[in-house]
Amino acid sequence: MQLQLLALFVAAASFIVETRAAPAVSAREQLRFNDGWALEDHLGNLSPWRKAPVPEGISEDLPENCVVDQVMLMHRHGSRYPLVTELLFIQGLSSRLANASDIIQNLSDLPDEFQFLKKSYSTKLGHDDLTAPGRRQTFDAGVEFRLQYPQLAAKTILAGLQDRVVESAQWFQQGFFGRTYSNTSVLETIPEDNVTISWITPMNTCPLWQYNYGNNLTIAWGNTYLPPIQERLNDVLQGVELSLDDVHGAFYACVYDLAAWGVSPWCSVFTHSEIEDFEYELDLLMVGAFGYNLPGDMGSVLGSLLVDKVIERFTNASGTSVPMYLEFGHDTSIDMALTALGLAQDDPPLTVDSRPSERKWRTSQQVPFAARMVFERFSCSSSSEFEANTPYVRLMLNASPFPLSTCQDMDSKYGTCTLADFTASNKASTDTVWGDARWNQTCGNPGF
Ligand SMILES: *[C@@H]1O[C@H](CO)[C@@H](O)[C@H](O)[C@H]1NC(C)=O
Ligand SMILES: *[C@@H]1O[C@H](CO)[C@@H](O)[C@H](O)[C@H]1NC(C)=O
Ligand SMILES: *[C@@H]1O[C@H](CO)[C@@H](O)[C@H](O)[C@H]1NC(C)=O
Ligand SMILES: *[C@@H]1O[C@H](CO)[C@@H](O)[C@H](O)[C@H]1NC(C)=O
Ligand SMILES: *[C@@H]1O[C@H](CO)[C@@H](O)[C@H](O)[C@H]1NC(C)=O
Ligand SMILES: *[C@@H]1O[C@H](CO)[C@@H](O)[C@H](O)[C@H]1NC(C)=O
Ligand SMILES: *[C@@H]1O[C@H](CO)[C@@H](O)[C@H](O)[C@H]1NC(C)=O
Repeated sequence: MQLQLLALFVAAASFIVETRAAPAVSAREQLRFNDGWALEDHLGNLSPWRKAPVPEGISEDLPENCVVDQVMLMHRHGSRYPLVTELLFIQGLSSRLANASDIIQNLSDLPDEFQFLKKSYSTKLGHDDLTAPGRRQTFDAGVEFRLQYPQLAAKTILAGLQDRVVESAQWFQQGFFGRTYSNTSVLETIPEDNVTISWITPMNTCPLWQYNYGNNLTIAWGNTYLPPIQERLNDVLQGVELSLDDVHGAFYACVYDLAAWGVSPWCSVFTHSEIEDFEYELDLLMVGAFGYNLPGDMGSVLGSLLVDKVIERFTNASGTSVPMYLEFGHDTSIDMALTALGLAQDDPPLTVDSRPSERKWRTSQQVPFAARMVFERFSCSSSSEFEANTPYVRLMLNASPFPLSTCQDMDSKYGTCTLADFTASNKASTDTVWGDARWNQTCGNPGF
């Protein structure tokens, strides 16, 4: 109760000094503001793809005498429509507004950013599938990949068997291979069901894993941050009486209109601080269900399957590994892998009590739509900053280096470490395989 009052006070106080986003004119104009605060940087895992910021002091270009000889890409699908469960909130909001249209027409002094409601708002969003911006993001990624690693041959693309993931892989394939793609490459799929062991969807074969580990955090945080926003909006929209779910729906309308149409009237209705509270909800969801806030070390156990793949492929001396692994999955695949690597970990862990302004777990930067987690294996011909002819590993997350700070001996200029160090530092992952004692203890015996 006390916490809730405190949060209410903080939200109210920050509202007074907050700038509100100007009414939407066009998608491009809407996203950036004079003070450098950008909406697209604060929409959590529902942000459109952007290059991540380069960490301070880290150089993003390797020395000229270094060559990448192997990469493994885990690519999140591009922007999509809301999930059915999320669409319900937007539809609920729409019908509330339709029902109250007479009341809204009668409101005098409606602030500019709410004027769109006089023309009525009803949603035409679909659900689950890739959107037009999602098509563009993944096609562009294919082109960019071809240009970035011209020295590496590829033939096969692998996608988790879900429509938006497969479609993303198909656009990428066309961008990467061009119009002869169907003759020069193969698209394979791996089921995302509960009987297929997969580093893309490891939680599906972990019976004790539950989405509610994250979802329950979002409910608790929502009970803190949504009521003051509800009160503010209902003050403006006298008589409409938005419920907490409607307010939640308005946030979803903002992010998903953007994800589908590139513009939304709803984003301008919120203050920066309110958007950041919604962003934190998304961070809590992901860290709770696919990261460090899972019980015990479940997050690391699940993510170990992907880390094991990297090490297996980068160390395979038998010559069976290929130069490029191009694989498509989810934000969840990337978040679990980060957790197994021990990266982006907050200490103390994130909680529902308050939103820390500084935090390492940032889904806006780490797992936006079309996120790209790229492990690069490289070596350099003459010794300079790197030992000659020694394989090294670098992690590129959304086209910027993500320092491998959990290696024993990371170099501080590039954020890389030797493959041997990377392998030794991730022994907890390589010591874990699906169905062994540690897996079964964490996940419960899968029973098949
Ligand atoms: C619709 O409006 C009527 C009258 O204002 C109200 O009684 C009813 O609860 C409203 N329904 C919804 C879903 O908002
Ligand atoms: C809207 O205003 C008109 C004129 O004042 C009034 O007759 C009508 O009842 C109002 N409608 C609602 C839903 O408040
Ligand atoms: C694929 O190969 C077949 C057989 O060589 C050829 O007929 C067809 O035109 C090719 N398709 C594309 C898109 O290059
Ligand atoms: C997999 O899911 C199906 C329902 O989709 C369920 O009937 C079955 O028991 C599950 N199997 C395992 C091994 O969890
Ligand atoms: C989520 O919350 C519900 C209701 O409080 C509770 O019954 C359930 O055990 C929680 N689930 C998890 C995984 O924490
Ligand atoms: C090398 O790759 C093959 C085929 O992918 C695999 O069966 C084998 O276990 C790998 N070896 C190592 C040392 O990872
Ligand atoms: C873990 O569970 C799997 C599936 O039921 C079983 O085959 C395996 O023997 C178990 N592992 C251990 C170490 O008990």
